[in-house]
Amino acid sequence: MKSSFRKVRKAVIPVAGLGTRFLPATKSMPKEMLPVVDRPVVQYAVDEALEAGVEHIVFVTGRNKAVIEDYFDLHPELIGTLEQAGKVAEIKSLETLLPVPGTTSFTRQQAPHGLGHAVWCARDIIGDEPFALLLPDMVSFGKRGCLAEIMELYGETGGNVIAVEQCQSHETNKYGIVGQGQATGSGFEVTAMVEKPKPADAPSTYYINGRYILQPEIFTLLGTQARGAGGEIQLTDAMVRLADNQAFFARPFGGRMFDCGSKEGFIQANVAFALKRADLKGSVLEALREMIAENDRAAAA
Ligand code: UTP
Repeated sequence: MKSSFRKVRKAVIPVAGLGTRFLPATKSMPKEMLPVVDRPVVQYAVDEALEAGVEHIVFVTGRNKAVIEDYFDLHPELIGTLEQAGKVAEIKSLETLLPVPGTTSFTRQQAPHGLGHAVWCARDIIGDEPFALLLPDMVSFGKRGCLAEIMELYGETGGNVIAVEQCQSHETNKYGIVGQGQATGSGFEVTAMVEKPKPADAPSTYYINGRYILQPEIFTLLGTQARGAGGEIQLTDAMVRLADNQAFFARPFGGRMFDCGSKEGFIQANVAFALKRADLKGSVLEALREMIAENDRAAAA
């Protein structure tokens, strides 16, 4: 990494959204606690941040999200019960998941005014340094985490960096889409950022997949950002303004991201991660094959 680029030490993980796409489950349970196989989705984001070299994680929480803070705490009663039952492996695995004391912060977004507002709530804890942003409902699946990949690009380019993936051309209206400029290092220069464009207006089919490295100047812009789509303070709107003065780069993710905030993505993530597990692969594959055959028989009847 060029020494002129300030190190990315901190990451923001916003967890204050309502999760309306996952109602009724999210009536009483944060969507960030929905398990993919046996870990809540927020744990995947934390692991990915640590793998990428992040030293401190700032969670932006909200109403009904206290369970997330509790999840990252020590559970003496549980450990006691496991000890009595001689479950040594389980105790070890719980210990390895605990963040090192002092390396997490929790701040509150009192009402879900949008992703941009959630990020702005972390401004005092982040301070004047670049930071990573991970949307935890987007779960990274690949040889390496998506954040580690864009950290590499940041080491080559500095500035602001986002991870992208390609969507079908008729799907651009579901995503934030970037324009593709000159190839730079392991990615490319971003020439435009457009929120949910119609296919005819989309500058490319590269969509922003939920991983970012941003410079702290974004906070000033977020502080004055007018409400945008859905009446929410949109991060993309502030990024477009930041792009007037600062460079943005993008890197296509080598793996794939599952949108666990949607039912389809959540189900697919569970299958994909289960098929990666030696203890589950055989039985899950067998069950899937049976279900597909059953479905085909029913369709043919
Ligand atoms: P989403 O837009 O996917 O979350 O935000 P949402 O609004 O909870 O979901 P739906 O669309 O109603 O189902 C991505 C991430 O940003 C957080 C969410 O918790 C999620 O992790 N977020 C979103 C906030 O922290 N605050 C907000 O105001 C909005």
